[in-house]
Amino acid sequence: MKNKIIVTGGCGYIGSHTVIELIENNYTVIILDDLSNSTEETLHRIEKITNVKPSFINIDLKDELKTKKVFKEHKDAKAVINFAAHKAVGESVQKPLMYYKNNLYSLINTLTALTENTINGFIFSSSATVYGTPKSLPITEQSKTQRPFSPYGNTKKIAEEIIDDLIKSETNLSAISLRYFNPIGAHESGLIGELPSGIPNNLMPYITQTAVGIREKLMVYGNDYPTKDGTPIRDYIHVVDLAKAHVLAVERIIKNQQEKPFEIFNLGTGNGFSVLDIINSFEEVTNSKLNYEITDRRAGDVPKLFASIDLVKNKLGWKPSKSLNEMIKSSWDWERKLNDKS
Ligand code: WQD
Repeated sequence: MKNKIIVTGGCGYIGSHTVIELIENNYTVIILDDLSNSTEETLHRIEKITNVKPSFINIDLKDELKTKKVFKEHKDAKAVINFAAHKAVGESVQKPLMYYKNNLYSLINTLTALTENTINGFIFSSSATVYGTPKSLPITEQSKTQRPFSPYGNTKKIAEEIIDDLIKSETNLSAISLRYFNPIGAHESGLIGELPSGIPNNLMPYITQTAVGIREKLMVYGNDYPTKDGTPIRDYIHVVDLAKAHVLAVERIIKNQQEKPFEIFNLGTGNGFSVLDIINSFEEVTNSKLNYEITDRRAGDVPKLFASIDLVKNKLGWKPSKSLNEMIKSSWDWERKLNDKS
């Protein structure tokens, strides 16, 4: 019997890559998604890659009754991976209530349904944004969390606190929160990747959309930070490496290998690259020039952020395998396929 895993937000960027890794590791996957920032086409693409079409239920997890009903039907699931959330930082500043409602109602309903049906494993998609402006680098899981700049980020911090409180009350629930640094890249098939709706907030899709001609010019938000070239430093991580960590987290929960019922791991590479490093690597990988301009700082950006990944290496046995150039190349291949140019 294959183990069944429920993946909320499984049609999204990180969710869809994780579904592929789960299927390739012999899990049965049930995707719950409201397609608010993804498309059903992703399911066909997952099938093309894996030869398995995952079960899909179109559901808004803000609907408590429907959520409970679906989880009851799949109470034999071994774990739930929670990707379902809005993630646009700028939009969350404009529409905070929409973010708190969506990200937290759906989380609370999911956790309620999960505990009612004694599904005892939960993996949460968190973010390095919970560390705010770090006091020292690299950031370990012991670093203090701070109130994130954006409502989006705050939903991640509050969500972790909700899970922590629940775990303290529920003896049978085990959870792992994975704090992502900056996920980029796409599946090697070029069939799935990031599909930002509207103008991208994040650096990588903005670069690839500029290079392909959708955007005129990349704005580099500030070159007066206290870093080697003045542009902010981040820890970019390949989405496929990230996806593989979720499979290991599932295994850790199923095999009862956790050292405590709620564990938190950073997911990055441990390497920091500046915005100009990314642009230079992109130009090298694609052998082209990118149109960009240095402009004012963006509110809320911190100068430097990169992870310590010792804990996740030691406990989960995970390590990143892809280089920055591989990340950039796969993002570029995906963008070109999406726009049907070669
Ligand atoms: C990276 C660097 C920008 C766009 C955000 C979220 C975080 C996480 C990942 C999401 C920064 C610069 C960007 C552009 C630029 N989670 N930049 N021009 O801000 O590190 O993290 O995304 O789900 O929670 O906060 O990532 O890709 O937006 O920016 O110069 O057009 O690129 O200033 O230094 P960030 P990013």
